Amino acid sequence: MDAFLIRGPSPLNGSVRASGAKNAVLPALAAALLTSEPVTLENLPDVADVKTMGVLLSGMGVTLEPGGPGRLTLRAGTISSTEAPYDLVRTMRASILVLGPLLARFGEARVSLPGGCAIGVRPVDLHLSAMEAMGARIAVEKGYIHAHVSRISAAAGRLSGAEITFPQPTVTGTENVLFAAALARGRTVVRNAALEPEIVDVARLLAAMGARIEGAGTRTITVEGVERLGGTGARPHAVIPDRIETGTYLAAGAISGGDVNVTGARPGDLTAFLDALRRAGVDVAAGADTIRVRRAGPLRASDIKTAPHPGFPTDLQAQFLALMTQAEGTSRIVETIFENRFLHVGELVRLGADVKLDAHTAVVRGPVALEGAPVTASDLRASAALVLAGLAAKGETRVRRIYHLDRGYSRMDETLRRLGASIERIPG
Ligand code: EPZ
Repeated sequence: MDAFLIRGPSPLNGSVRASGAKNAVLPALAAALLTSEPVTLENLPDVADVKTMGVLLSGMGVTLEPGGPGRLTLRAGTISSTEAPYDLVRTMRASILVLGPLLARFGEARVSLPGGCAIGVRPVDLHLSAMEAMGARIAVEKGYIHAHVSRISAAAGRLSGAEITFPQPTVTGTENVLFAAALARGRTVVRNAALEPEIVDVARLLAAMGARIEGAGTRTITVEGVERLGGTGARPHAVIPDRIETGTYLAAGAISGGDVNVTGARPGDLTAFLDALRRAGVDVAAGADTIRVRRAGPLRASDIKTAPHPGFPTDLQAQFLALMTQAEGTSRIVETIFENRFLHVGELVRLGADVKLDAHTAVVRGPVALEGAPVTASDLRASAALVLAGLAAKGETRVRRIYHLDRGYSRMDETLRRLGASIERIPG
């Protein structure tokens, strides 16, 4: 198991290009199950979760044909299995995204329950109740979701359109319903849908495949089901840039007191985060597809509260919290999405941070002089926060279990080295 060895403090300077969005690519890959025609995707990030989804799909009989850096063509002409096994699902919860497409096109699916996760219980009840509302029969046995569309209750084994109201917005839940509704009989209306840019990007792909979707990016989405979907034809689908990766490098630039520019970015996808950086005294310059941060003096303590998009993204909470350890005053960081998303706090305290937890709030006092030490990553975004803190800490920080990081960041050590950091990947 690899680790990162970081020698700090080291200001970051330079430009980095945003990769494709992990959370837009995973549903796009699953969408290939909806058609027998080829689906070509571009701008795929080189991260472990994309590989895991690839293994999951090829295990079902989908063929994957690489077409050069960041390009992949998927063919789900016929499939040999409608199962998502525990061994894969437990490593990547997003595997649940095969449920909707399998049910919609093949009328059956056997998907392992994802199980617990470091950041929270993360149930999938809203996915299941939505599929049931569309006519699927669902049983959970021995840790697996057994779902099928009976050929008696639903005409020809097809799902039926339905009115679905989510009690709270769910990103992958909304995506699974879009997949299911795209091939269902009749109209589906999704209320209180999630608004994340990745959902809009998936809806764009589905529309290119022939789906009839309106309202993606709003709280109410309407889908008119069609008999069958095509592929991407002559127009590959290039996924949007990763706003969370972008935000992470901007926070790295800010915490290190450097000057970092992210190109190929979408500032409009990060409004709440950029506003928080500005409140904290970071000089943020946003262009059409670039975002540059520089430090204009000491950081100021700032409060944030995570929320569904367009609110402050929970996937940038840990990175912002690490930044606030270097700010003058007391910041209150409130996490509202996941009940256990402060595992980075204990490790940051090992580096000398002054953070107190009170239920869903972390109270951060700063600035403190961080000192390098061995720390252990617990999940994807927590590990990013530890790397940021290591860039600001005096001496050596060893971040262990960076396999968490590799799930969602493509070669972070190389990118940071190009920006001037002293960081190396070492055996853990
Ligand atoms: C997506 O997860 C992202 N993953 C997560 O990113 C992100 O943190 C999350 O959305 C919130 O923005 C992908 O897109 C692959 P939710 P998802 O369903 O869809 C509760 C990262 O770091 N809920 O929107 O699983 C749930 O427990 C990852 O890249 C239910 O109760 O999140 C949570 O409290 C981590 N029942 C809330 O809703 C359900 O059936 C929002 O979760 C579904 C969700």
